[in-house]
Amino acid sequence: MYAWHTTNSIMVKPNITFNDMKKSRIIGVGHYVPDRIITNEYLSTIMDTNNDWIVERTGIHERRWFTPGKDTVTSMSATASRIAIERAGLSPMDIDFIVFATITPDYFLPGNGVLLQRELGMKTIGALDIRNACSGFIYALSVADQFIKTGMYKNILVVGAEIQSSALDKSDEGRSSAVIFADGAGAAVVSVVEPDQPGILSTHLHAEGQYAEELYCMAPSSSTEVRISKEMIDRGDFLLKMNGNAVFKHAVVRFSEVIQEALEANGKEKSEIDLLVPHQANLRISNYIQQKLGLPDEKVFNNIMYLGNTTAGTIPIALSEAWEQGRLKEGDLVCLAAFGSGFAWASALLNW
Ligand code: COA
Repeated sequence: MYAWHTTNSIMVKPNITFNDMKKSRIIGVGHYVPDRIITNEYLSTIMDTNNDWIVERTGIHERRWFTPGKDTVTSMSATASRIAIERAGLSPMDIDFIVFATITPDYFLPGNGVLLQRELGMKTIGALDIRNACSGFIYALSVADQFIKTGMYKNILVVGAEIQSSALDKSDEGRSSAVIFADGAGAAVVSVVEPDQPGILSTHLHAEGQYAEELYCMAPSSSTEVRISKEMIDRGDFLLKMNGNAVFKHAVVRFSEVIQEALEANGKEKSEIDLLVPHQANLRISNYIQQKLGLPDEKVFNNIMYLGNTTAGTIPIALSEAWEQGRLKEGDLVCLAAFGSGFAWASALLNW
């Protein structure tokens, strides 16, 4: 252990040495998706689209949308979290911090982390919200990893949950994003382990704010006279706006870069990856990355075909499904990667 010492009356914490450093590991995963299935056929009855176009351009056949009055971001994340905590062999009282990734919280304030803490009847632990959209879960995982490595917390609940369907423009004008985005929640319990145990090897986070308006939602906004007005509603400012072509072009480059960055940082080869779990942005993007890495189908996890793109929810939902399907074995080298609004992108490399 390190010791505190003072220099010129200032408390200084010396650099933590490698031997002191803790490691973090995902020890339980869970997910929840709403039971309302939205098929491409249904979408083609409310907007000018068709099954063939959607499947060819996105790979999506159906997705889940929430039921108003039944599902909330808090309720969905609570269900996912209870499953993750139980699979970790813990109780909600064992959790000592929450990191909650969402860009679609139940309230403008306070954040969704505190609502989850209340819902699960937890101790008065800290709860932090992360707003990095599609990369939100990896950002949240990285924050949890740092808190555990420094010895601050032992068991952290990391959540990614969204209700996107209420911000979709379901007219013909919004069809290119309305067919992609969906609702759902995933959760992971990240706990401290000894340095020689499997666990998180690294996380890499990036952002390039000059592209913020390529995928964004303007309202409610604190920089207008009222946060939401009739004019803003009439203009559709509360709807998600996406420049699909720009997102696609940047995504394929950044996904590849950030995966390579993770491999190089750990002296690993792409052939050593046992399972790549990409953010489920679009199946064509995932297929492109798979091809670039030369990975066979069994080494890439995709569920966008039946769940769509649930923004911060995709990676924890995918991890939970992959675990249920026996596709995550102890020690497997797992790569998580995401790209989305911001633009923000990120990767995590871990041994399961
Ligand atoms: N159904 C039918 N036609 C549609 C449509 C839909 N849902 N959405 C768009 N179109 C039409 C367009 O109007 C356009 O018609 P036009 O040629 O007559 O003008 C045509 O299809 C091509 O549009 P374009 O936007 O160039 O299509 P695309 O091949 O780029 O595909 C996306 C659109 C959105 C599927 C694609 O850009 C994409 O996947 N981008 C990345 C999005 C993403 O991953 N977002 C998540 C980030 S986290």
